[in-house]
Amino acid sequence: MKNAVIPVAGLGTRLLPATKSQPKEMLPVGRKPVVQYIVEELIHVGMNEILFITGPGKTSIENHFGINHELVQILRETGKEELLAELGFDRFQAQYYFTRQRQLLGLGHAVQCARSFVGSDPFVVALGDSIIGLHTKSDVIKRMQRCFAAYDCAAVLAFEEVPDDEIPLFGIAKPKNHDLCFELLDIVEKPDLSDAPSNLAVAARYIFTPAIFDALDRTKPGKDGEIQLTDAIKLLIEEGKGVYGVQLTKDEHRYDVGNFEAYFRAFTEFALADEKHGAALREYIATLNKD
Ligand code: UTP
Repeated sequence: MKNAVIPVAGLGTRLLPATKSQPKEMLPVGRKPVVQYIVEELIHVGMNEILFITGPGKTSIENHFGINHELVQILRETGKEELLAELGFDRFQAQYYFTRQRQLLGLGHAVQCARSFVGSDPFVVALGDSIIGLHTKSDVIKRMQRCFAAYDCAAVLAFEEVPDDEIPLFGIAKPKNHDLCFELLDIVEKPDLSDAPSNLAVAARYIFTPAIFDALDRTKPGKDGEIQLTDAIKLLIEEGKGVYGVQLTKDEHRYDVGNFEAYFRAFTEFALADEKHGAALREYIATLNKD
């Protein structure tokens, strides 16, 4: 499995005005834009054919993964080797592809745009606004691939245990058992705490066979007019195609940067963990707390 798809077409309206003319996937978290963490995670597990599903105003993502020869030359000529090293990701052995979601009809529709890219092969979807793990480069996709290889299934999803107050915000798993790789009986979208079948929330990483495209074709838009990926996954479960889940470890917290509260938290944690500037930032925050 080498094909990965990163949907980055959404408008990011919950982060306005920051996202008026800049993609939310390019907002910095610590030193790097969000989407760079995602590409690094994919390359770490051997996914080196990467398709971005883009939309209006997203060309800076394409520029970020292209080589800026002028910048490289200036840094080289001025002896700024340390800064040059920061562009090391330029040399990843990956091929990047870009296609446009021409109508913003939701995440399910964005995934449909990858159809001819993936052909008949299974593929990974990694959401462009969610980083997995602060100190470790997650290998959850490797674990999901092992699960996919072990079972005759159409999809494997990552899940994270979330606190009770976050359960109504996510798609929640109804697992058949508590194995490392568990079969899903259902996904309940944003349940009340009392109706929640578990505390396992869908966590932004998926493996699909092309069966998902057929399921998406048959998925009607929800009341917001968007084609929901979760609805198509539910269809796969209902039709007995086999959908499994793999849980993130404690070190693999999912940082979803889609709203300001979560974005501020993610930025703060990554900045505090920064090797060079984290300690000074900690001291600075301590002085603020004194007042
Ligand atoms: P979200 O639903 O969180 O993104 O999708 P959004 O639509 O940009 O958010 P708001 O509600 O307007 O703030 C999760 C991921 O899926 C992509 C987004 O770019 C994001 O990375 N996405 C979403 C698409 O590619 N296409 C879509 O139609 C919707």
